[in-house]
Amino acid sequence: MLRKALLVLLLLSGAVFGAGSEKPLSNGLAKTPPMGWSSWNNFAENISEQLIIETIDAMVANGMQAAGYQYVNLDDGWQRYKGERRDHPLEADPVKFPHGIKYLSDYAHSKGLKLGIYSGPGQSTCAGYTGSEGHEKQDAALFASWGVDHLKYDSCCSHKDAPDDVVKTVFATMSKALMAQPRGIVLHACHCGWSNIWEWAPAMGINHWRIGQDISDDFDYPGNREGYYFDVLDMLDRGVGLEKYAGPGHWNDYDMLVVGLNGKSVDLVGAGASNVEYRTHFSLWAMEDSPLLASADLRRLDAYTLETFTNPEVIALNQDPLGKPAKRVRSRDGLEVFAKELADGSWAVALLNRGSPTADMTFSVHKDLNLPWIKYTVRDLWKHKDLGEFEIPYTAEVISHEARIFRVTEVKDKP
Ligand code: GLA
Repeated sequence: MLRKALLVLLLLSGAVFGAGSEKPLSNGLAKTPPMGWSSWNNFAENISEQLIIETIDAMVANGMQAAGYQYVNLDDGWQRYKGERRDHPLEADPVKFPHGIKYLSDYAHSKGLKLGIYSGPGQSTCAGYTGSEGHEKQDAALFASWGVDHLKYDSCCSHKDAPDDVVKTVFATMSKALMAQPRGIVLHACHCGWSNIWEWAPAMGINHWRIGQDISDDFDYPGNREGYYFDVLDMLDRGVGLEKYAGPGHWNDYDMLVVGLNGKSVDLVGAGASNVEYRTHFSLWAMEDSPLLASADLRRLDAYTLETFTNPEVIALNQDPLGKPAKRVRSRDGLEVFAKELADGSWAVALLNRGSPTADMTFSVHKDLNLPWIKYTVRDLWKHKDLGEFEIPYTAEVISHEARIFRVTEVKDKP
């Protein structure tokens, strides 16, 4: 009896404390990294109803939806007013979006896709449009009433130098406001990799958080372009050591994919990358369990780029239910080995050559993966080819800036 009473007391006190900030929040969404498209990198503020409708249609028609892409996300520039929220309401630009945002989410849903939107915790956003400060509950309800499925909440400009406690508070406020809505809305916290956000975002119900400043359309630019932007390899390096913070429902976000921009984006800086480099970028974002948010013009993808975006075997690594991002297990002279454990007991291995000369690269299931396997098979995930059974370390030729991606599986002797 006494034990029962104690248990009830304990449960009750848990419920009371649980109502405070201590209890981890979870919206139960994004069990695997979100896949989709975001408007910013290629279009910046030049977005419109027509562009979004055509992007939705392209995602369905070009096979990306079938490959797993779901979200079509409006970034900054959908709002009607530039300036501070205290001076203007938050409304959709009636010229760019004559039928409003609900019309677009209805259209996305009718095609089996989802719609995302953008705001921020400041008076204004990075591009100078009205933000959500002081109106978080109202805006969360507005987005839900529009049928929105994903919110990118961007504090990169408004809270760049804010103390960590303030940053935490603004994200907690929006996270709770979204969770109070009748529909699930995935929350992306865009704080440009500051405030060690990975340490506290998962418990706040944040589904993905940027690990760095904005990506530029470069594979390996010396330093940071304009003293700010991260190229593909900078972002990859930024993620080393952060793998442990990610898992089902909460992911390190390496920023939008620049695959297919080819240095031609009107707004995003960068000289573009080669097909091989873009493929390497895609493969490593997949290995790291980053959200896969394309940003190129989906209406005009060439065959090679589309093949990069839709490789089912590489996407399967990203969407693996175990949700364990790859770790960099070896790095020497620009030759790096990444390894990712998968739900079925197999592993994915990436051999990345950051240098110029072609290299013969080797991985060992014993030394690099720490596995006691005697015999294993190797499958090349870009060539879609089984390469055979091996008992010794596996060696492959890797050209400059290429990442060869393999799936390795133990061969168990039949009893
Ligand atoms: C910041 C973000 C970008 C984009 C712009 C929009 O720079 O990091 O991803 O959302 O704001 O203004």
